[in-house]
Amino acid sequence: MPIEKNELRRAMGHFATGVTVITTRDEEGQPFGLTANAISSLSLVPPLILICVDKSADTYPYFARSKVFAVNILSEDQETISRRFATSGIEKFEGTGYHKNEMGCAILDGVVGHLDCRIVNSFDAGDHTIYVGEVDAVGLTEVPPLLFFRGGYCKLAF
Ligand SMILES: Cc1cc2nc3c(=O)[nH]c(=O)nc-3n(C[C@H](O)[C@H](O)[C@H](O)COP(=O)(O)O)c2cc1C
Repeated sequence: MPIEKNELRRAMGHFATGVTVITTRDEEGQPFGLTANAISSLSLVPPLILICVDKSADTYPYFARSKVFAVNILSEDQETISRRFATSGIEKFEGTGYHKNEMGCAILDGVVGHLDCRIVNSFDAGDHTIYVGEVDAVGLTEVPPLLFFRGGYCKLAF
């Protein structure tokens, strides 16, 4: 008998993660994005990562259409950005500094790093779709990351 969804949420909440904003775009180049921590490295050769996107998210349809995405790894002072991109139905990019990468995906100002990906595969997985992205480019900084643990935000204690 499978466990109930809140039990799984609570259990996986004990697995500390970073926090990202995954961005994509529509045909006209308008940016879309959502907060996500269900991401993983997958393969080094070829360089692959995976993201898991909720089928009910407003941003969901744009991944399959554009076939590109960028992972923005949030820094410890970007909790407000995380909350904003985890809220549906608002102008997420208003007041958020960003530039576009070569694929037209938004790279947010002040992030720890970003990975620019082309979707090479996808898998149906319950209420989510797993998108596999081949990483074309990365950018990294030295700023400390934002963390998510047991349903709350926290910082690394160096
Ligand atoms: C810390 C955190 C991690 C999240 N991880 C994911 C994720 O991996 N995949 C996903 O689809 N939604 C994830 N969400 C939920 C989305 O950010 C949320 O549903 C958002 O409102 C979707 O925006 P949209 O409807 O505008 O696309 C996460 C939210 C938070 C706060």
